[in-house]
Amino acid sequence: MAILVTGGAGYIGSHTCVELLNAGYKVIVVDNLSNSCETSLARVQEITGKELEFFKVDLLDKEALNFVFGKYDIEAVIHFAGLKAVGESCEIPLKYYQNNITGTLNLCEIMKKHEVKNLVFSSSATVYGEPKSVPVYEDFPLSATNPYGRSKLFIEEILQDLYKSDSSWNIALLRYFNPIGSHESGKIGEDPNGIPNNLLPFVAQVAVGKRAELSVFGDDYNTKDGTGIRDYIHVVDLSIGHLKAIKKLNSNPGIVAYNLGTGNGYSVFEIIEAYKKASQKEIPFKIIERRAGDIAISFANAEKAFNELDWKAERGIEEMCKDSWKWQSENPNGYDKS
Ligand code: NAD
Ligand code: WQD
Repeated sequence: MAILVTGGAGYIGSHTCVELLNAGYKVIVVDNLSNSCETSLARVQEITGKELEFFKVDLLDKEALNFVFGKYDIEAVIHFAGLKAVGESCEIPLKYYQNNITGTLNLCEIMKKHEVKNLVFSSSATVYGEPKSVPVYEDFPLSATNPYGRSKLFIEEILQDLYKSDSSWNIALLRYFNPIGSHESGKIGEDPNGIPNNLLPFVAQVAVGKRAELSVFGDDYNTKDGTGIRDYIHVVDLSIGHLKAIKKLNSNPGIVAYNLGTGNGYSVFEIIEAYKKASQKEIPFKIIERRAGDIAISFANAEKAFNELDWKAERGIEEMCKDSWKWQSENPNGYDKS
């Protein structure tokens, strides 16, 4: 039996492929490489000493997807493929809805056709909108503040409807908090195109000298030091959560949602300090105005995943920064896609 991984060449997907291969699964990756390259998969095979199958397939191409499903005995699908830049989603919302929602509809249709009904979906803490309090629990009200987040929310609702119509589906909605870090080998990592949108890749590029300074988006939030607080989670811990979710689906739980976070919140200033320590580099920064749409504070209550998946994040902020720095310093130009 094999696990099909959509978006497996990307940041979280490539790390999850490592864990799947190490756990003995056969792995089939489909990815259109719109935000990744095949080098990540070559590195996954180098790290594990195991092979995976790769198909350059766009989820909008149902025929190509159907071909892959016809070729293998697939036990479950982990669905990472999607566009994820919040700012870009406000500029080109139709593309985000088309890619993320139509892509998921196609995937589910082909899964159904081939009687593959176990699905792990990459959702996001963004589906909590502006949470009424912290920590955030899975039963908090859901909302969206931008088209990217709305695509995640809609997909969650579509998957709920799918399950209601046919209870032989088993679906895990994994709501990630803020994934950072890299595999300890430093061979795979986050490789954003252009100017990074997220804090960690930006800090890493400042530390390595590719960017002059970090802009801190506001120091007047109602938090301990005025900067935004988030629940950063090591990407390897996050990846292991997917293996636990696959095991859970084998017990026929129906549709279930889990927060994948550490339960700890760190401010932007604390991240700068932790990264300085890990890299032994200066991180020059300036304070600028708040970024539109940002919330002050978000961190998870991750007890449900602990109780039901037997999963807990093991790696702390030092390890996250150390592993991020190993990747960034040894691959200053990422996978060097040029
Ligand atoms: P990523 O961009 O590195 O990986 C996504 C992969 O999907 C890329 O390799 C891309 O080429 C591929 N892809 C996109 N559209 C496709 C399509 N139509 N057909 C085939 N392949 C397609 O992103 P990531 O950080 O690894 O995120 C993976 C998933 O997790 C995404 O769904 C994202 O929304 C979600 N998520 C990410 C974060 C985060 O901060 N990184 C947080 C919460 C949720
Ligand atoms: C973290 C903190 C910023 C950049 C986003 C998406 C979310 C999810 C994860 C996919 C905030 C501050 C950032 C910078 C800064 N993705 N910051 N300077 O906003 O929590 O979440 O990524 O699902 O949907 O919205 O993460 O890393 O962008 O920001 O000061 O250059 O760092 O204000 O407080 P965020 P982030």
